[in-house]
Amino acid sequence: MSLLIRGGEIVTPDARYKAEIYVEDQTVTRIGTDLSVPPGTEIIDTTGKWIFPGFIDPHVHIYMPFMATFAKDTHETASVAALIGGTTTFIEMCCPSRAEDALAGYNLWKEKAEGRSACDYAFHMTVSRSDQNTEAQLREIVRDGTTSFKIFLSYKNFFGVDDGEMYQTLTLAKELGVIVAAHCENAELVGRLQQALLAEGKTGPEWHEPSRPESVEAEGTARFATFLENTGAVGYVVHLSCVPALKAAVDAKGRGVRLSIESVLPHLLLDKTSAERAGLEGMQYVMSPPLRDRRNQPALWSALASGLIDTVGTDHCPFDNEQKLLGRDAFTQIPNGIPGIEERVSLMYTYGVNRGRMDIHRFVDALSTRPAKLFGLFPRKGTIAVGSDADLVIFDPTYRGVISARTQHINNDYSGFEGFAVEGRPAVVTVRGKIQVRDGNFVGERGRGHLLRREPIINWRSN
Ligand code: URP
Ligand code: ZN
Ligand code: ZN
Repeated sequence: MSLLIRGGEIVTPDARYKAEIYVEDQTVTRIGTDLSVPPGTEIIDTTGKWIFPGFIDPHVHIYMPFMATFAKDTHETASVAALIGGTTTFIEMCCPSRAEDALAGYNLWKEKAEGRSACDYAFHMTVSRSDQNTEAQLREIVRDGTTSFKIFLSYKNFFGVDDGEMYQTLTLAKELGVIVAAHCENAELVGRLQQALLAEGKTGPEWHEPSRPESVEAEGTARFATFLENTGAVGYVVHLSCVPALKAAVDAKGRGVRLSIESVLPHLLLDKTSAERAGLEGMQYVMSPPLRDRRNQPALWSALASGLIDTVGTDHCPFDNEQKLLGRDAFTQIPNGIPGIEERVSLMYTYGVNRGRMDIHRFVDALSTRPAKLFGLFPRKGTIAVGSDADLVIFDPTYRGVISARTQHINNDYSGFEGFAVEGRPAVVTVRGKIQVRDGNFVGERGRGHLLRREPIINWRSN
């Protein structure tokens, strides 16, 4: 099957130009003007539209046993929603708990996704304990092409690792050339503050943020950076939410620590007043790190615009209203997470590019190219170039719509972004040359997605 995409403007981090793209089988094979193509080629007129490389969400939870329940999506629902939203690859957190075997967990996550995802995918392998058996299993997982680890400094006794385990994980990662993503909050302080608040009868969702204040995230971020500095490992802070944590991460970058920074959609667009709403409405907005005071956002946007914040993910983690109500008597029991896999591209285009907070090249970089580079997917993914996978997003900037749970494709009964206006959406989306979305609707092949096997990092660079 071949495709000719013509009339639109291609955008990458360093270029913007009108050209035609010819796709043969799964790959971009020619880029130019007045391309001659064989009979039978499908021609897509993209006049007036942007042509972006397929977007990559570097942080999602799909199969996710967590807080006495399971996140709502399956790989079928999440991948279709991702594609409708312009994400052609996601990297899922493979999250076996401390009580489970790493390799058994990895195989389970692979089974859950295999043959069910409509878009391509990879995993970050969570390391939730450190012993000889786990180390041997992690070596096998890296040989299988999963070349990024994840650690949680919070969620004590479940996913969380202590400092000794963090040190051992980073040392192994350095040896194997594996990047380590980290959720950075001080577990001890979170536990103590939660207990103190509950003891004072402070049980509602509005107390979630005070139980995990900015200083607790800043401490976790600084400690992770210090461990990177002293092990020589390469790290990636996930879902950085506030100015003190940003300062800790940027200071570390400044002294040469090999660290990249991710922010996620909720921290850029929502704030803690949502979680301060009474009852269920507030519970819907409980995630960790928590939604913060809005005064943090200008600094996050400006660091994103300049590239100090490297990437934007979603931390997609949907729990429905019934699940959120598990925490009706204590905020510590509210399943943590907000969905977003479907909305990231259109919201970042609308509230980032269209509002002048970031330029269109940085938008492509933060949502596609840089995740591809950091996680060993570039240049197969994250760019439009001869030889790259034909993952393309033909984006209609004239579309106008409003986000609503009634029209979303994820498996959840609310949207964290209900009522947000969007200016633009993906009109056509291809995955390795196959049209998966047309006119904003899924029209493709449900099991098309592949597990992307990646090489270890050879030469690390921050951008
Ligand atoms: O609240 C969140 N972020 N839920 C998903 C788990 C995690 O910490 O990433
Ligand atoms: Zn996290
Ligand atoms: Zn997460």
